[in-house]
Amino acid sequence: MADPLVLAARRVLEAHWDDERGYCVPNPAVYPHLWLWDSCFHAVAWAALGEAERAGRELRRALGHQLASGFVPHMAYAGPPGARRGPLASVSSFTQPPVYAHAAAVVARAAGGGPDADVVARVCRGLEHLWATRRTPEGLLVVHHPWETGADATPRWDDHRRPTGGPWDRDGATRWEEELVDSATYDAEGVVAANPRFGVAPAAFNAVAAHGAAALAALTGDGTWARRAQALAEAVDAHLWDPDEGLWRDLPTATAGGGGSSARTPTADALLGALVTPDAAKAAVALAQATDPERFGARFGLRYLPRSHPAYDPDAYWRGPAWPPINYLVWLAARRWGDAATAAAVAAMTRRGVLASGFAEYWNPDSGAGRGARPQSWAALAVALE
Ligand code: GLC
Repeated sequence: MADPLVLAARRVLEAHWDDERGYCVPNPAVYPHLWLWDSCFHAVAWAALGEAERAGRELRRALGHQLASGFVPHMAYAGPPGARRGPLASVSSFTQPPVYAHAAAVVARAAGGGPDADVVARVCRGLEHLWATRRTPEGLLVVHHPWETGADATPRWDDHRRPTGGPWDRDGATRWEEELVDSATYDAEGVVAANPRFGVAPAAFNAVAAHGAAALAALTGDGTWARRAQALAEAVDAHLWDPDEGLWRDLPTATAGGGGSSARTPTADALLGALVTPDAAKAAVALAQATDPERFGARFGLRYLPRSHPAYDPDAYWRGPAWPPINYLVWLAARRWGDAATAAAVAAMTRRGVLASGFAEYWNPDSGAGRGARPQSWAALAVALE
């Protein structure tokens, strides 16, 4: 009999698939638009289900909103946008972690017969745009809004928020996000160019970018991307490794505030340096925390913050619950290091969480109770974790 997880994952993706538009909405009621990294993860899930054609269609759709400069928007609106995300009418002026390079590699593998040339060209232009416009003096990549990391409300932003905000609450955080849309400046194309109130080189975004550059090098044989991947991975270790936490910290830019200790908050996505570090010892120290119950390990993990952390709230958006995309990326990192035990444990936690929560957007790491939108398409990623 077919695995119930696989059957349910297929049901969710099928139900959320819009054949005319060529992508899955994350959730029809709560998230009715296209989101960049969500669609990349949907492509990975489609590929794991043996649906290479739909995997390719969804990835092409997500990259199809690329602007002439190479910039890839984090959203494309399927109707009234619901919120302001910059001056552009039909797409966001912000981006999201460039998971599209990894997704292109997964889709190419699933399809066989070599990568789609147009997809590869778009991935290349997307990464070029980041390398051309986002590099810090340290050689890291900077983001100009929390949305660009995908981890919209992580406690890592708390020092950026503190001058105006009190204790964290969802409505206040949403208002702050809107203020940051207003404080940003935009280039002639309508793409965010800077933000005097928010600027940070996040460990997770940089790790995903370096991992993507390496994937692109493997797809194309282009040595430039191999060198860029290596240089970025080295910069991540040199500037972001935090020996006290055994994780990679974020680096706020001096002019945009946020210079306090919140950039070092131990969050599950701070493990993602293990995707790219050349240093086996750092990877081992970080990955051991994925299963440690005092850190991110939990029956329905990964816990986004250790439960002893003052900001920990197991039910609040990006303040403690487990998130399928983070679990998938940590699983990839464990696999990269041949750490089969951690990979298997992360896969098991993810499967339990997805099933217990009813394919939720995120879930309580102790009870598995679903939080946020339900069902959410990216929970189908659990089928990709062997
Ligand atoms: C939330 C998440 C973001 C995701 C979006 C759609 O905004 O923080 O990462 O892309 O929802 O699922």
